[in-house]
Amino acid sequence: MTIEIPDRAPTAHVIVVGNEKGGSGKSTVAMHLAIALLKQGQRVATIDLDARQRSLTNYVENRRAWVRHIARDLESPAHVCLGDKVDIADGDAAARVLADAIDTLAGNNDYIIIDTPGHDSLLTRVVHALANTLITPMNDSFVDFDVLGTVDPATFGVTGSGHYARMVQESLGQRESFGQPSTNWIVLRNRVSMLGSRNKRLVEEGLQELSRRLGFRYVEGLAERLIFREFYPRGLTAMDDLDARTLGTRPTLSHATARMEVESLLSAIGLVDASAGDEADAEKRDAA
Ligand SMILES: Nc1ncnc2c1ncn2[C@@H]1O[C@H](COP(=O)(O)OP(=O)(O)O)[C@@H](O)[C@H]1O
Ligand SMILES: [Mg+2]
Repeated sequence: MTIEIPDRAPTAHVIVVGNEKGGSGKSTVAMHLAIALLKQGQRVATIDLDARQRSLTNYVENRRAWVRHIARDLESPAHVCLGDKVDIADGDAAARVLADAIDTLAGNNDYIIIDTPGHDSLLTRVVHALANTLITPMNDSFVDFDVLGTVDPATFGVTGSGHYARMVQESLGQRESFGQPSTNWIVLRNRVSMLGSRNKRLVEEGLQELSRRLGFRYVEGLAERLIFREFYPRGLTAMDDLDARTLGTRPTLSHATARMEVESLLSAIGLVDASAGDEADAEKRDAA
């Protein structure tokens, strides 16, 4: 499959959340990153390429409806659902509409976060080649590991790369051949059990080895927590204000822990604006 990437790189930082595996947490991670960056005062747009599931689109629309319900303004990204604009199955037409959407959004935003479907397509390849940062969430299981790498059944040592990893390498190679700076590829584990297990350790060892082979950085991701899924119908995230009016319920300790987890993820990815903390400190000093 040959892809064309625009000769002019978008001026906004493009974050692609990708993995050829459904249910790995792409849409959840995309929404949490979007709200976390908005909370830092960044201008954020989101694009949903998953025309079938529309999880990110529904997440954003649920948020807008909840904002009206609680009559309180919550930071929300400018959002484009590509499937609403063009027939995604028509790869070339969809790629043109996508390029236009990125061009327009890049003019008014610092970050564009693109959520992708769990299968290979022309569009998925195009956005992988456009990524400044590529984030691949994966569940803590060898079934999910398989799309990145294969392992020896006796030793669990890595024996080769999986089909998604090969696609990523092709797209990133294409990006380099267009003279674009290299992509910061990060794999994060999602829905990690809080209990230690042999499986958890083996997956971790496998990822360490694969990260050296494939050139991604592996970071601790998010634990399995109800809070990462229960607020979807209200469009809320662990990054939102932890007060009863915003949440529609009383916050729990798990909210605060989940938020710290997302914050450490952001800093591990390298998306923390160092001045954001200084500004918050200055505001606190002024208020005192
Ligand atoms: N850290 C987490 N803890 C609990 N549930 C999660 C977590 N991450 C994702 N989920 C849930 O897992 C399912 C798949 O997540 P989703 O973001 O839709 O994955 P994808 O976009 O890769 O298909 C959803 O039900 C989501 O609410
Ligand atoms: Mg999804």
